[in-house]
Amino acid sequence: MLKEDANERAKEFCKLREMTLDQAHLLGQGQEGYVWSTSNESAVKVFERARNFETELECYQILHNESVHELDGFTIPRLLDHDNELQVIEMTIVSPPFLLDFGKAYIGRRPDFTEEVMSDYESDREELFEGNWPLAWGVVSSLEKYGIYYWDARPGNINCKGHPDAI
Ligand SMILES: Nc1ncnc2c1ncn2[C@@H]1O[C@H](COP(=O)(O)OP(=O)(O)O)[C@@H](O)[C@H]1O
Ligand SMILES: [Mg+2]
Repeated sequence: MLKEDANERAKEFCKLREMTLDQAHLLGQGQEGYVWSTSNESAVKVFERARNFETELECYQILHNESVHELDGFTIPRLLDHDNELQVIEMTIVSPPFLLDFGKAYIGRRPDFTEEVMSDYESDREELFEGNWPLAWGVVSSLEKYGIYYWDARPGNINCKGHPDAI
């Protein structure tokens, strides 16, 4: 997705809600989209794919209904608003340690990957998390009781910085 397209959608989202996009403040970007801060002191995430938008929205709705804004010492953004047409989610800004980015999760069913895929995934995580994979794995497991099977564990999404159990 072009940054300009994402930016237009984020600006439109803000305009419709009488707030402004903090253009200078790109909170982050990942494989799926762009995240900017707003004059509402919130974060707006613009999605490229409908599937990821819908999944992330549903996860935040589940967590919101269960009042889960923190899990195992990780802060989870609160859902503030969303726009189906613009494929934008507005949420609170969090700082580490945090857990976010639910676009690639599975809801209500564990993905049935082969053992080989699973073991490759695990060994990649060990490398990515540099000693903090057991900590990240713990919070991912805790999400399962809400029917959320998280499948994109990486340090940008599960930030262990400042967690009392982090290495
Ligand atoms: N609510 C938020 N508060 C603070 N930083 C955020 C927030 N949402 C996203 N970010 C930052 O933006 C980055 C990209 O967001 P993310 O949701 O992971 O997008 P993608 O699905 O494209 O990977 C994150 O790694 C994080 O650093
Ligand atoms: Mg991400």
